Amino acid sequence: MKDTVFSPAFGNRPSCLVGRSDVVSAMLAGLEEPPGSRSRATLLLGQRGSGKTVLLWELADRARAKGFVVASPTIAIEDMLDRIVEKIQDDGERYIKEKTAHLTGGNIGALGFSAGLQFSRSTQESKSFHYKLSHLCDALAQQGKGVLVLIDEIQGNDPRVRQLVAAYQELVGKQADIALVMAGLPGAVSATLNDRVLTFLNRASKMSLEPLAPAETDAFFMKAFERLGLHVSSDLRRKAVKATCGSPYLLQLVGHNMVLYSAEDGTVDEDALESALESARNSFENDVCGTTLAALSDKDVCFLSAMSEDPYESRIADVAKRMGVTHDYAQKYRKRLIDSGIIEPARRGIVRFAVPYLADHLRKTSEIISDF
Ligand SMILES: Nc1ncnc2c1ncn2[C@@H]1O[C@H](COP(=O)(O)OP(=O)(O)OP(=O)(O)O)[C@@H](O)[C@H]1O
Ligand SMILES: [Mg+2]
Repeated sequence: MKDTVFSPAFGNRPSCLVGRSDVVSAMLAGLEEPPGSRSRATLLLGQRGSGKTVLLWELADRARAKGFVVASPTIAIEDMLDRIVEKIQDDGERYIKEKTAHLTGGNIGALGFSAGLQFSRSTQESKSFHYKLSHLCDALAQQGKGVLVLIDEIQGNDPRVRQLVAAYQELVGKQADIALVMAGLPGAVSATLNDRVLTFLNRASKMSLEPLAPAETDAFFMKAFERLGLHVSSDLRRKAVKATCGSPYLLQLVGHNMVLYSAEDGTVDEDALESALESARNSFENDVCGTTLAALSDKDVCFLSAMSEDPYESRIADVAKRMGVTHDYAQKYRKRLIDSGIIEPARRGIVRFAVPYLADHLRKTSEIISDF
């Protein structure tokens, strides 16, 4: 059977965006606020596979439809600032009617443009990012257009993010019609301390991508299976929903593997479901759990391994004992891991895993090590 619904790959636009209509509406409502409002600088935080990248692309389309000029999601890497300028130029060009005419009716050279939204050579070569962004905003404001900049995979301590934030703050001071949405892992904001960028990020409006509600995943599975001609009993469908743990990436993996393991007539029985879930879990452990652990320090991993000895939740006191460290020392790691969204507080003195299957993954890894 051909899978025409599920597409488990990072950054892939899903055929249906499940359970995020509130977040999208809130972000679009933020864009309606006057320039400078807090909701025009949004930080979208979520675990790996929670759907940050696809939400940014969705927002790009929806904001464009509302008349915004959008710098589509740019990853915070080397040439980020140049890419933002180019993207605004490309997207905004269609609003500049007279490609070579004077934008202000005044002196075009004074604005630094040569044609449309393209800068003159000297501006292009000698002026800063801030200067270019500011002039693009001015030129587009004359056409009644606001600018939305979307950044993916931000790190709070990235010098380019610093520059972008500084430029944004100055433009906001001038009442420029600009908005900024930045997406990253929950830990992105706690990376540095006492820093101007951090203050800005902390004050920005924050949206966390929470796990999808089981009812929404179930409704989507029901529709999707029907469309694909997949026969799944409601019991097994519920089991599949549970296995997604509310993760959009797992939803795609589980759905896709169910298609792969279905019989020729589209039936998914208990055995087929088991195989599909195991395959989905393996991919998730590899792509998400493995990547998450690889980004942590040895001590962080040690804390998590100590936690994985408990079946569901862990007492910090027990974790500290297993690690052979003081309670205060363990608290430091507890806080860092909570800030990164990898674990969450359950009750006072008790924590649990926030990333699906991470505990299982750690248990398996420690078994492999002890088998050696
Ligand atoms: N709301 C959703 N409904 C259905 N599928 C979704 C949804 N959000 C994301 N997905 C799917 O989940 C997968 C991961 O999405 P995405 O790449 O956006 O995650 P991410 O949060 O950006 O992850 P990372 O932090 O690793 O970059 C993709 O296959 C995507 O199609
Ligand atoms: Mg992403």
